[in-house]
Amino acid sequence: MPAGSPDANRQGGRRAASSTQAVALQDVSASAACPRPTGIGELDRVLGGGLLPGSATLIGGEPGTGKSTLLLQAMAALASSGSKCLLVAAEEAAHQVRRRAQRLGADVAGVFVLEATVLPAVEEAICNLAPDVVVVDSVQAVSDPAISSPPGSLAQVRGCAQALVGLAKARGTALVLVGHVNKEGALAGPRVLEHLVDTVLTFEGDRYLALRALRAVKHRFGPTGETGLFEMGEHGLSSVADPSALFLGDRLKGAPGSAVTVTLEGHRPVLVEVQALVGRAAAVPRRSVTGLDPNRVALLVAVLDRRAGVRVSDRDIYVSVAGGARAYEPAADLAICLALASSFFGTALPPEMVALGEVGLGGELRQVTALTRRLTEASRLGFRSALVPASTASERNCQPRAGPSGAPRPSSLHLQHAAALAEAVGCVVRPPAPLQRPSAAHEPARHELTSAGARTPERGHDRGPYARRPRWPAAGGP
Ligand code: TYD
Ligand code: MG
Repeated sequence: MPAGSPDANRQGGRRAASSTQAVALQDVSASAACPRPTGIGELDRVLGGGLLPGSATLIGGEPGTGKSTLLLQAMAALASSGSKCLLVAAEEAAHQVRRRAQRLGADVAGVFVLEATVLPAVEEAICNLAPDVVVVDSVQAVSDPAISSPPGSLAQVRGCAQALVGLAKARGTALVLVGHVNKEGALAGPRVLEHLVDTVLTFEGDRYLALRALRAVKHRFGPTGETGLFEMGEHGLSSVADPSALFLGDRLKGAPGSAVTVTLEGHRPVLVEVQALVGRAAAVPRRSVTGLDPNRVALLVAVLDRRAGVRVSDRDIYVSVAGGARAYEPAADLAICLALASSFFGTALPPEMVALGEVGLGGELRQVTALTRRLTEASRLGFRSALVPASTASERNCQPRAGPSGAPRPSSLHLQHAAALAEAVGCVVRPPAPLQRPSAAHEPARHELTSAGARTPERGHDRGPYARRPRWPAAGGP
């Protein structure tokens, strides 16, 4: 039985090509497996250079995010650089795939398509055509007649994926499986497929927005957590080269409730705008959170209330990250709190400032990772100052790096330090000038101490960026 044939593969499972002879690791060539670049920059970034021969990649996402589009674009690019590609169209007819290729303006010479939904047909085509890259769209639509469970069942999905992965490994073919996600966002076949493959990518995006994010959640051969960003347009997906500029493009500078922070998408720092709207609640306060962890926002609201004296707990709160971006890491805590405080007081933050810091339950500000990289990106985008935790390393150590030419950047960031959230709020969400206290830095704490009841801003505070500056909140509130 020849190695790499479907039957040999089924008997040996994914270890069909295994050997009984151990070899010295130092004698093993590391260059034997070089990634094959797909030619799509953001996809290659996430894959760590490209698709590795003999590797199995699972790409999951909700219907309509653009998985089929991305993979067809990748196959066209791979084929144009000499790779033979096979698309197993288990959900669509070949003519539909061709129409999509026409829409994309893709040169599909070297791309083969197979309309098949049964595993033996797929295996046979792989063995006959001997492609370098195989895409199965989708693995849930392929079934094995030898398995008694109905198509799409857990046993079928697992059995088919296992057989295809084994075949790809035995033949040195790069395999990409498309997987659907269920309503809870998990890849169908709960985690079963994730264990079978080398790489798991998720493709996410709101179907009403053009932005799409490709993330590596598992990657045996490269970085995990790396993110590729795309925009879906009339002619397919295009890479977003400068996400920070995209996310901040429509920002209304000087608007209360807006704070900019720098998140890490994999290794890439990305500037995002956190927006908050704090309003008067009816009976039960409403909370709406988009692009952030709702539990984290709930915690920060409590800390802001108890530790910084900004009484937002009983208010309607809407918080989001603008432009469909997201900020799940704790480094965004300070910006979330400042956006809330800014909306509450109706006072805009300095427009060219970024805020970075994790907020602890005690109200203390904690350091963030990769600060220099984040500050360098903020500086590149023209930001002039950064509010960072006081415990951050000395100013010299976290100044933005020199530009690519080695010359110092023309605008280096001014670092403002704060040890606690109350201090940070007092520093940048200043009360209006007429009633300004001598020490603005301690204002929120005093506000908390001197108020008889919960202090709330006056009505005018929520009037938006062009409202006249309101008075410092009076006791009782509206
Ligand atoms: P598709 O790749 O079929 O998504 P998936 O395979 O994840 O289900 O793409 C789905 C959406 O993308 C569909 O609503 C149409 C839209 N689209 C564009 O906006 N531009 C394009 O060039 C293409 C091909 C699709
Ligand atoms: Mg599809």
